[in-house]
Amino acid sequence: MAEVRLVNVKKIYPFVSGEEKKKNKKKKDDEPVKEKANLQITDKGVVAVQEFNLDIADKEFIVLVGPSGCGKSTTLRMIAGLEEITEGELYIDGKLVNDVAPKDRDIAMVFQNYALYPHMTVYDNMAFSLKLKKVPKAEIDRKVKEAAEILDITQYLDRKPKALSGGQRQRVAIGRAIVRSPKVFLMDEPLSNLDAKLRNQMRAEIIKLREKIDTTFVYVTHDQVEAMTLGDRIVIMRDGFIQQIGTPQEVFNHPANLFVAGFIGTPQMNLFDAALSKKGDKYVATILGRDFELPEAKQTVLKAMDKVPSEVIVGVRPVHVHLSSDGIDATVDVSELMGSELHLHVNSAGKDVVIVVPTTDIDIDSVHGGHKAVKYSFRPDLMHFFDKETEKNLF
Ligand SMILES: Nc1ncnc2c1ncn2[C@@H]1O[C@H](COP(=O)(O)OP(=O)(O)OP(=O)(O)O)[C@@H](O)[C@H]1O
Ligand SMILES: [Mg+2]
Repeated sequence: MAEVRLVNVKKIYPFVSGEEKKKNKKKKDDEPVKEKANLQITDKGVVAVQEFNLDIADKEFIVLVGPSGCGKSTTLRMIAGLEEITEGELYIDGKLVNDVAPKDRDIAMVFQNYALYPHMTVYDNMAFSLKLKKVPKAEIDRKVKEAAEILDITQYLDRKPKALSGGQRQRVAIGRAIVRSPKVFLMDEPLSNLDAKLRNQMRAEIIKLREKIDTTFVYVTHDQVEAMTLGDRIVIMRDGFIQQIGTPQEVFNHPANLFVAGFIGTPQMNLFDAALSKKGDKYVATILGRDFELPEAKQTVLKAMDKVPSEVIVGVRPVHVHLSSDGIDATVDVSELMGSELHLHVNSAGKDVVIVVPTTDIDIDSVHGGHKAVKYSFRPDLMHFFDKETEKNLF
């Protein structure tokens, strides 16, 4: 049982006093530090996370996702108690835990690099934290064997980590967390050291694990596919700010802004400059010289708006673009045959557009290979509308 609540949480990494900003950044390692656009530097230090508000329900699986440096690990480490919270409150099961030591938070964390003890066997690695807590031997034995069973590593209990594959090591790292029966399970990019195939396999394992241990999860990844497949809800972050919180379906179907629209879904959403105008009593979007009459639901919203913008950005996902004999003219630049799908990178009047076509739907030779001429279109009900200035989803 554990609900986790973050209220207006902020994290500033203070500069070490007396040191210049530049020096401070170089201190971490000796490599030259590239100036990062997302680094929010203030007088007080680096603002890594701000205005972070999130209510995590008991047994919910939350995924924090976003590009490098957006504050995912910092947020996770604040929940774990490994990083001090600069401002705001963190509650676990209704109890304010800002000042509670990590070991007293009933939380287990799995890191990207596994952090196993190399000189200990798998069994001892998993038993270690329980031994420290002076848990009776018989109970330790039961818990370790139970976790090993869940993770299918029983046959490796006597081995040392170096005699295991990456995937097996990652299981041990997870096993070490499971034995503690934590209220909250925190995972920071646990699969990023694995190759693509193993990553897919372990992703499925985590889904199964979740069914078996039934606890609250907060999972960090920069991989949107992992986020979409694992999360009950996902939290998309950028430069320390939450951009959107929603179920995978919600963020896919209704991205809050252009950043989320571009981040979720592959290939990336196509974006078009469009003009919005009223023709007769209907609103139409004009894209590349073509008029698209908006669906009824959008007509209603637009009619109720005080001021309808005349210039907008229209987003259409590549899977929502289709080939159509009376569509927009284009030439194929690159055509990638991916088995069940064909990814067409086309160009019409200087505008690059990506189209994903199921190979079952078309005569492949008519579009694949060479710079073939194609025509494409899309349905107005599958278009997303964004404000040109604020980049927010309009309606
Ligand atoms: N100990 C620290 N001292 C100063 N700044 C830090 C420290 N740790 C992180 N930061 C900065 O805080 C910001 C957020 O870092 P964080 O590690 O949370 O990002 P992340 O989303 O986990 O990125 P990644 O995907 O690369 O792991 C970054 O700008 C980073 O440079
Ligand atoms: Mg990180």
